[in-house]
Amino acid sequence: MSTPIGSDVARVDGRLKVTGAARYTADHPVDRPLHGHVVVSAIARGRLRSMDVDAARGAPGVVAVHTPFAPLRLYPAPPGFGENYVPLQDREVRFRGQIIGLVVAVTSEQARDAAALVTATYDQASARTSLSAGLPGVPSPGMSPEGPSPNPTVLAPGVRSIDAALRASAVVVDTTLRQEPQSHVPMEPHGTTAVWQHDHLTVYSGSQIPPLYAATVAARVGATPDRVRVISTFVGGGFGARVPAWSEAALAAVAARELGRPVRLTLTREQSMILTGHRPALTQRVRLGADRDGTLTAVSHQSAAEMPAVGGWPLTPATETTGVLYRTRNLAIDQRLVPMDTPATWAMRGPNEAPGAFALETAMDELAVTLGMDPIELRLRNEATTVPATGQTWTSRRLADCYRAGAERFGWAGRNRVPGTRVEGDWLIGTGMASAVYPAHADPGAVRMQLRDTGQVVVSASTPDLGTGTYTMVSIVASDALGVPIDRVVAELGDSSLPLGAPAVGSRAAGILAPAIRSAARALITTLTDLAVRTAGSPFEGRDPAGLAYRQGRIEGGADSASFAELLEVAHRPAVEAMTPPPPAPPDSNLAAHGFGAHFCEVRVHRHTGEPRINRFTSVFDVGRVLSARTARSQLVGGIVFGIGGALLETNPIEENGRFAAGNLGDYLVAVNADIPPIDVTWLDYTDTAFSPAGARGLGELGTVGSAAAVANAIFDATGIRVRDLPVTLDALIR
Ligand code: MOS
Repeated sequence: MSTPIGSDVARVDGRLKVTGAARYTADHPVDRPLHGHVVVSAIARGRLRSMDVDAARGAPGVVAVHTPFAPLRLYPAPPGFGENYVPLQDREVRFRGQIIGLVVAVTSEQARDAAALVTATYDQASARTSLSAGLPGVPSPGMSPEGPSPNPTVLAPGVRSIDAALRASAVVVDTTLRQEPQSHVPMEPHGTTAVWQHDHLTVYSGSQIPPLYAATVAARVGATPDRVRVISTFVGGGFGARVPAWSEAALAAVAARELGRPVRLTLTREQSMILTGHRPALTQRVRLGADRDGTLTAVSHQSAAEMPAVGGWPLTPATETTGVLYRTRNLAIDQRLVPMDTPATWAMRGPNEAPGAFALETAMDELAVTLGMDPIELRLRNEATTVPATGQTWTSRRLADCYRAGAERFGWAGRNRVPGTRVEGDWLIGTGMASAVYPAHADPGAVRMQLRDTGQVVVSASTPDLGTGTYTMVSIVASDALGVPIDRVVAELGDSSLPLGAPAVGSRAAGILAPAIRSAARALITTLTDLAVRTAGSPFEGRDPAGLAYRQGRIEGGADSASFAELLEVAHRPAVEAMTPPPPAPPDSNLAAHGFGAHFCEVRVHRHTGEPRINRFTSVFDVGRVLSARTARSQLVGGIVFGIGGALLETNPIEENGRFAAGNLGDYLVAVNADIPPIDVTWLDYTDTAFSPAGARGLGELGTVGSAAAVANAIFDATGIRVRDLPVTLDALIR
């Protein structure tokens, strides 16, 4: 059997999805569910004076109305995950759109209608809704205790400060870039169905980390974690918004407990955009100092991000890009947070790396223009061999090969060097490029693998498939590891009661699950071999296991051969199973691991209207070994689509009154098919065995890093206009 690794396997769950058989959160049938709808605040900050719920209580089908004046008891979430406020427990209003009420009714329509009848009066206070008014902010504490320092500074001997290093540089670019919040907008809106059986709670909800979600809900409803199970069999997109368990999950659970019936609570699109996190508003300043030959002498990256009082993502956009990409003698990263009275922020699609790369890669393009140098040549001149911020070496870094291969595929050579001079009819044509980088994680993960008497192989992990292709990737790796056809493999995913596997966050599922599956498969083969020699009536009874071999689902020894299903039948066992054993040694902390890539974009900008359109896009990635070609390509293309959307369309400014400008997908613009040209994605073919025995690094978010900069750099090349505030809209391109 040839290995399916790296081949173009169709999604194993594709048929379930296109036939509607795949069950998302609200599709799971439960017995006589009630329906909840939340009521939200109309002011950004202040205190509730009164609420009138009489009309809602008397509305058809209504069974319960809860407010801070008639609360449901809820507890705080464990610190660090999402929001830190607890709805309905007090009368404070901390942001516009905060949950101030919950209506439960027989149908979802009745609940929504009744919720609209609730009125509130407030004592209003002034709210901090402007990032620029809150500058300079306070230093960021970083993402997590084990993460890289958020504010590394590395100075050459004798250099007093980054400002001194910049002053001493022959050439300096100084660029400031701003972006408003962006919304995750996964296609499936957030929702929860909560079902209690005695004191056990089952929650159906799309989650990126079901065991963490279960622990959070348990804490918030005052139950022990072993009493809560979260089922996320199919998830309509995560993008970071499904890492925390937001308040709606806990509210559904306590309402269901109180009423003794299942409760289903689905947020509207607008509520999802407010209540499940957003990418923070951000301003960044990058200063690059260089010699005339392009050698970087000083790199400074400062950022300030929105940090809501109710909690959120301690965004660190610079460390993972500017701290990683280019060699420099002097490096200073300064990341700040600005306290605001806005809804909770959260990680979104390359949360640090995508905005960080937009800033750095714009500045690098400006430096190339200032020096009159080709942007690829500039990057090659400063290619790092050790991580600038930490001194670590890489498991593998082949970024230079990505530049060369991409330039060749795209046709970069012979590029016109004078911006704004290539005209075709009414369109100005330009090309731009940028680098991609995203960390790869090799933390140990554990899966359970079973061989069943039905002839099936079952791989089980709590990891959900967010649409990324995890069902397919897991099936491919298990098929390869056990030498059984892929249609005999069943991936059982998205359930907090299963072994952890890997969290579906930070592009880490494939990089962690692939080696975990391989090592569980080896343990399983040992277990099967032991069963074969211990089972009375087996052709291998009493033999030395060392004389037996496992091959393609069969134990073989001498002239004897038996499939695992036959051996299980003789043994009267429905299945044998094994878990991933603990890793032999912790990963080498002197090694860094990242995915890399090079993006190339051609745009056209209309001479009279300023309308920017993408003509074509080519990217080459360095991700180690690709396991599942079809879903890997889909992830990388999807990331580039996000990059194009972020460059040209996606934005959700917060108005002075604390309201998001967009509350639906008519106003919050995402890239659609008509915005997207053919996207040419390829990868280098290299197995990164220093990263893991499977050789595959994660790649989920990599495509979205740097792609917006490639677009904006191409727009500069087309027009001679440098736009540093995202998105690049046509009004900025009209002369
Ligand atoms: Mo992703 S923003 O790492 O969930």
